Amino acid sequence: MSLENSKKIFQSLIYSRRSIRVFQKRKVSYKKILKILEYGVWAPSAHNSQPWRFILVLNQNIRSELIDEMSRLYKEDMIKDGLTEDEVNRRLSKSRIMLNEAPVLLIICMDKTVLWSYKDKQRDENEFIMGVQSVAAAIQNILLGAHAEGLGACWMCAPLFCRTLIRKILRLPEEYEPQAFIILGYPAEKPNPPPRRSVNELTHIINSL
Ligand SMILES: Cc1cc2nc3c(=O)[nH]c(=O)nc-3n(C[C@H](O)[C@H](O)[C@H](O)COP(=O)(O)O)c2cc1C
Repeated sequence: MSLENSKKIFQSLIYSRRSIRVFQKRKVSYKKILKILEYGVWAPSAHNSQPWRFILVLNQNIRSELIDEMSRLYKEDMIKDGLTEDEVNRRLSKSRIMLNEAPVLLIICMDKTVLWSYKDKQRDENEFIMGVQSVAAAIQNILLGAHAEGLGACWMCAPLFCRTLIRKILRLPEEYEPQAFIILGYPAEKPNPPPRRSVNELTHIINSL
């Protein structure tokens, strides 16, 4: 493929990818899910440590238990924050519908065992951040890969807020740090692109100090 063609395809994917939160009932084949996860595996990672781990929740009862228990925790937090009962219920029902109805639910974890360890706390913390950044790169590849395969996906941050609970319910190793959900399926909506700030506004050019 010519460079001009690959540039066109790249631009079209980058600009047309949207977070998809409403899906058709149509099933996504296991083969397709694996293909999309493989795009994630080709992301860059610090020391090529590949700290991402993909948890595919197929069992509906386990998915329901996970969503119920996470909602319980989220509700407690929102009540502590002083939100009204109506607002709590509104927020909960929105994310519960997304998580329950998405054809595919993935939990993206970081495996801490593959991170480098040092003698000082600061460098260990930096290594942790490198792991988080690497996992985020994989998630972005997965979102773009899903879009390229005709699917829609949304990155959801809820697992970060209940890492222990997720490990407990799914019996994940202590070293797995749940980072995000990805919900996936054939899109049933075509959202408008949320606005972006201009690159000029966001770029600082240093010529001299
Ligand atoms: C770290 C991260 C966490 C996110 N968490 C959520 C979430 O919990 N729920 C949700 O609906 N969207 C979530 N999103 C999606 C963003 O809302 C979305 O990417 C943003 O509004 C821009 O829209 P676009 O992806 O269609 O360009 C998250 C995105 C990122 C990168």
